[in-house]
Amino acid sequence: MVATPIEELAPRTEEEVREHLQSGKLVEGLQHMSPQYLQGIRRILTVSADTELVSAPSYLRAAQHAPALNNFGSAMSIVQDELAHAHIGYRLLGDLGVDMDWLIYERPAAEFKYPYAFDVPLDSWTELVCANALYDQAGYVLLSDVHATSTFGPWKRALAKVDKEETFHLRHGRTWLKKLCKHPDGRAEVQAAVDWMFILTLEWFGLPDARKRHGIQLEYGFKGLSNDELRQAWMAAVVPFMDELGIEVPVHLDEASGGYVIDCPFPRAFDEATKTWGDEITWDDVIARWKARGPMNEAYVEKLQRGYRTTSFRRAG
Ligand SMILES: [Fe+2]
Ligand SMILES: [Fe+2]
Repeated sequence: MVATPIEELAPRTEEEVREHLQSGKLVEGLQHMSPQYLQGIRRILTVSADTELVSAPSYLRAAQHAPALNNFGSAMSIVQDELAHAHIGYRLLGDLGVDMDWLIYERPAAEFKYPYAFDVPLDSWTELVCANALYDQAGYVLLSDVHATSTFGPWKRALAKVDKEETFHLRHGRTWLKKLCKHPDGRAEVQAAVDWMFILTLEWFGLPDARKRHGIQLEYGFKGLSNDELRQAWMAAVVPFMDELGIEVPVHLDEASGGYVIDCPFPRAFDEATKTWGDEITWDDVIARWKARGPMNEAYVEKLQRGYRTTSFRRAG
């Protein structure tokens, strides 16, 4: 990868970026960025685009279990949306001086930055629709926050479309969960899926606020809410729906504070082979698990990159 140093790409000083933002303007491109702004926006855009991209092979694999052809069609339209969402992020990164071919097609699997949850395979239709209800809800919470607070104009505007499509994914998940939970066998399957997926989604929002400072992220509007606030927003959306379904989740609402309290050990050891949770561990242990990546990382990235290696549709140098 030939990369231009970010100091050359982003000409503004931190002071100039702050003045620009304080005057109520959005950052529209490299010409408005400082090196620190560029580094920050590249990081968050990469996480977002990687998450969208890897959800495609994950959902595609699970869609093979669709009960009927029209259900397979709905899942395919979600996969198509996710690829389009990923494309928005990578295209913006291309405008910000990142080599898109390297980023999407040549980057080693271990360097992708999506949440660990997607490294664990979805092995049934029930697990796919649970992912729509839990993971897409997490994505929706995160992207709504970016949409509301982002100072990077091109992304902020593009998210209006993404938000609407994520609403469809969520509705797909919820409609199916309601249908499955009408029967005891279906509810038992949903419960088994939620048992491993719920805690993985709690992890999705990252280290607790006490462990992590987000100075630059919050100041430049890369995100508005803290990790713990985002985790709470996700639980506030998901837990009442789970109650409605009669599905148990290991948290309860604390009436006094109005926030959710996690009742199980957290963070917690995860057995990838059996998709079961063990004893409480430290966040350092969780970070080590995230860094090692999970069972599907290489297979999913291989699926996404294979066509690039076997065709000659390369960008002109
Ligand atoms: Fe998406
Ligand atoms: Fe989605």
